[in-house]
Amino acid sequence: MRLSKRMKKMEDKELLRLMELADDPNMISFAGGFPSPETYPLKEIKESFLAVLERYGQEALSYSSTSGFSPLRAKIANRMNEKYSTSLTEDEVIITSGSQQALDMSGMLFIDKGDMILCETPSYLGALNIFKAYGAEFLEVPTDSKGIIPEALEEKVRKYGDRIKMAYVIPDFQNPTCRCWTVERRKEFINIMKHYDIAILEDSAYSDITYEEMNRPPLISLDERGQVINCGSFSKIFCPGFRVAWICTKKQMIEKYMMLKPSIDLSSSSINQRMIDMYLEKFSLDHHISQIIELYRRRRDLALETMKMYFPDSVEFDKPKGGLFAWIRLPDNKNARELLELALERKVAFVPGGSFYSKNGKENEFRLNYSNMPEDKIVKGIKILGEILTVFLR
Ligand SMILES: Cc1ncc(COP(=O)(O)O)c(C=O)c1O
Repeated sequence: MRLSKRMKKMEDKELLRLMELADDPNMISFAGGFPSPETYPLKEIKESFLAVLERYGQEALSYSSTSGFSPLRAKIANRMNEKYSTSLTEDEVIITSGSQQALDMSGMLFIDKGDMILCETPSYLGALNIFKAYGAEFLEVPTDSKGIIPEALEEKVRKYGDRIKMAYVIPDFQNPTCRCWTVERRKEFINIMKHYDIAILEDSAYSDITYEEMNRPPLISLDERGQVINCGSFSKIFCPGFRVAWICTKKQMIEKYMMLKPSIDLSSSSINQRMIDMYLEKFSLDHHISQIIELYRRRRDLALETMKMYFPDSVEFDKPKGGLFAWIRLPDNKNARELLELALERKVAFVPGGSFYSKNGKENEFRLNYSNMPEDKIVKGIKILGEILTVFLR
């Protein structure tokens, strides 16, 4: 069949294979970025669904408006305002079907073939793949433990100027490294983007999963000019299955997203939006989040302790302060894809770090998810990895 050229860019067979293998019930999978299903609040969800059907009847099962269910948009705006001192209104929020859709629409909105997208290295694979499909080229800016490096950023931006259509960044507990930008770096980043008038797509998928009190204002709260498009999601803090997420930005930009949305899915699920709205009305999302954070903190600590115990000394990793991943570095001359093949033979999966670079990236890193495996499997899987690493790094 005569498929589009775009398809060539989308064919990441390695990742598909990994995700399929991860479905094997005998596999100890540290590969996905999934929350733990045992945290999904079934009883409260059931109660909320019933309440929605009672309150709204058939209307709940119809299409939603393009911008989304208005009470939910208002609650999202209020939550942002309370937490981050923004002054968003519900007109500055649009509901999307997962934040993956927000990324897709942003690609559609900004990218023509050959345009440049500025991004952190490494960065979220799911975003890089979409932007690639729209024909983007990537301007990769190095990051360190404090976030994107301003000097490197300025140098690149000065060089490529108008060709840069948008910057895509994940300042809070980034996927895959779990790094969190310092306040200073956030301010420096905003200032540079302001100077060169570049739109910022801020992905806040992991912002609420934090293990320490930290001052980390979202970029949208530091934005005086309306340059930031912030996307958030209920996936990691509630349940990914509802596919309900949001974009917050100036009304003018929301209107652009609204023009795209009907041609993509007409509207996000009406009943799911109402269910989440009802849940927010009846229960405390923040209480729920505090419970899942406790579970993930225990799993993070266990994963790290076990890694310290069983991984050879030449393997490096930091303690993530939030998010769902540990980012692990092998010595420079070692390849994590080769390590993965050995691990899969022993039924352990993870994602090699090279997949998170838009161009040829480093191959000596890998990402390990600790949120979605029970404690006994975390220990078992990491012990197996330790045994393999001891031989692999000899
Ligand atoms: C950084 C980041 N952004 C966006 C998404 C998409 O999440 P969802 O579409 O479930 O909201 C993910 C999923 O893992 C992610 O890691």
